[in-house]
Amino acid sequence: MSASLALRTLSAPPPTLDAASLRADFPIFARNPGLVFLDTAASAQKPRVVIDGVAEFYRTDYANVHRGVYALSERSTRRFDAARGNGRRLPECRRSQRGRLRPRRHGSDQPRRADLGRRRPAAGRRGAISSLEHHANIVPWQMLRDRLGITLAVAPLGADDCFDLAALAASLTPRTRLVSVTQVANVTGEVLPVAEIARLAHAAGAKILVDGCQGAPRMPVDVRALDCDFYVLSGHKCYGPTGIGALYATRSIFDAMPPWQGGGDMIETVTYEETTYQPPPARFEAGTPDIAGAVGLDIAPRFMAELDRDAIHAHEAALTAYARAALGAIAGVRLIGGGARPVGVVSFQVNGVHPHDLATILDQRGVAIRAGHHCAQPLMDRLGLPATARASFGVYSDEADVDALVAAVRAAQSLFGFDGA
Ligand code: ALA
Repeated sequence: MSASLALRTLSAPPPTLDAASLRADFPIFARNPGLVFLDTAASAQKPRVVIDGVAEFYRTDYANVHRGVYALSERSTRRFDAARGNGRRLPECRRSQRGRLRPRRHGSDQPRRADLGRRRPAAGRRGAISSLEHHANIVPWQMLRDRLGITLAVAPLGADDCFDLAALAASLTPRTRLVSVTQVANVTGEVLPVAEIARLAHAAGAKILVDGCQGAPRMPVDVRALDCDFYVLSGHKCYGPTGIGALYATRSIFDAMPPWQGGGDMIETVTYEETTYQPPPARFEAGTPDIAGAVGLDIAPRFMAELDRDAIHAHEAALTAYARAALGAIAGVRLIGGGARPVGVVSFQVNGVHPHDLATILDQRGVAIRAGHHCAQPLMDRLGLPATARASFGVYSDEADVDALVAAVRAAQSLFGFDGA
């Protein structure tokens, strides 16, 4: 027996998900029989445990937090604070790490003075991003550019419309302060080599922010292994509620960060002359927070952990490969980008059929995909396309969904008189 075969024999079989059975945990499918939902990258459907958990919290424990001295408010506060504490499960932070989602409050967390919020102009400092970024990782840097005078470098796309590590490396200079990249491209499903990008960024003296909005729902995430300084994710793409997400940063970064909004609950003392701020994270959360959203965001990662994040990744990578093979076998269909082992997302074009027309025809057959620029207009410009059709997967998606997509694409081609050329 060869060494590699012996290793394969000894290692555990790859974990699997039974997507068809899992659909029973998502009420949307019972309420919409026949739905082929292929738009999970836009927002994931919600499992019953999240829906019921949030509803039960409203029914039983809800009151405003950090304000009331009565028992109900204290119960609600405990639930909210516990949810935030548990939030480190989302990007798989560990207690021993140098960074955390919820820095502890203790003696060294002195309230920060108002002058923390005053920023110096940063003319000459640079940020760097890839060409595969969502508007959410472009527009804020342009706003900073207009406010602070920073410049933004965009690493060009490489061959086959994929990420090019050498191009990103070439875009870094001694003035680069922050490299900000997606973990999984929302348009093409490409998985970027984030740990390698982190090494490059740190070697250049820059910090790295990882946009985990498409990565966190689809793969194990260990911020320590990635060695990222910031990691951000969206609750609603991780089977949790909309309107809430998580920001991971190292403790020293959080301590140095000024508030970004003013209001209730983020202050220590206020006079007409001056304000002192709470330590992180309260400093960053002005006003009544999304209390029930935090409860939902506490439940969702437990749901994912029970399924096993490795199993979710294996399932979505296999389904993506299946979809790419099936769509790629249709004459007149072009796949867009994706790289070596894309996960969860397939963008494609059908000759002679505008993506919006395609999405409408597919919808008539119960197949829900997204069509358009996918909040990535600069990427569309670089691809020379006005739009793409995009199918994306979740834990409840399976090969039958892909087969329905393929049949619907063929039907759309027939409708448009496509002759297979
Ligand atoms: N960011 C979401 C998407 O890619 C909305 O569809």
